Amino acid sequence: MERLRTRIASDLHDDVGTNLSSIILSSQIMEKKFSFSTEEKEYLHQLSSIASKTQDVLKETVWLLNPMNDSFADLVLRLKSIASQTLREISFSFISDENLLHEKLSLEVKRNILLMFKEILQNIIKHSRANTVKIEIRKVKDSLVLKILDDGIGFNFNEVKRGNGLTNLFFRTKAIAGKLDIDSKTGKGTEVALNLNITQMRTGRKAVAVIT
Ligand SMILES: Nc1ncnc2c1ncn2[C@@H]1O[C@H](COP(=O)(O)OP(=O)(O)OP(=O)(O)O)[C@@H](O)[C@H]1O
Ligand SMILES: [Mg+2]
Repeated sequence: MERLRTRIASDLHDDVGTNLSSIILSSQIMEKKFSFSTEEKEYLHQLSSIASKTQDVLKETVWLLNPMNDSFADLVLRLKSIASQTLREISFSFISDENLLHEKLSLEVKRNILLMFKEILQNIIKHSRANTVKIEIRKVKDSLVLKILDDGIGFNFNEVKRGNGLTNLFFRTKAIAGKLDIDSKTGKGTEVALNLNITQMRTGRKAVAVIT
């Protein structure tokens, strides 16, 4: 399985990645070499912007697939870089527990945590008007606890109209058999906490229901 993942990751990188780079390069050369109308230029820009967005998605997929990035330390590095790219003007702190760094993550857990983290930060950017964000990753007993706190306007969880974002957060939590708590009050900021058993984190399998 690991060898297959490595092969797919490098094939994607080498084949699809190179093709996308060629599209971007060709459109840059065309723009320099020929004179286009404003409308034509617009289409050309669209073309290279779609290609570079696809390149970003591809990079992420390759990173996820590559078993070389399966340690918790790799995920923490990725989350830090996403936080600084996304939060920009909002100041943030990032604490991660050293006891977790050597842990291995299953592909499913890695993927779901990454996508959840992105959505939580997107929500902060879009809705919170926060000045500061705290990101904490701690080992509590046998669990990983990932907390993201903002000091923004908050919201009423029971009254708010849920979009795909919050709905997916709960679906993803369920898929990795974690626990998600969202504590938010109007005017008091928001705290999102994901709790995940460490054994679960390694295997990514759903917990088997215990029937007594
Ligand atoms: N950190 C936050 N601070 C303040 N309000 C928030 C925060 N996170 C979510 N909300 C509120 O919860 C609502 C639902 O969030 P949700 O992510 O489900 O939808 P959305 O962000 O509006 O759209 P999308 O489906 O694209 O994510 C938001 O519209 C917003 O009112
Ligand atoms: Mg959202």
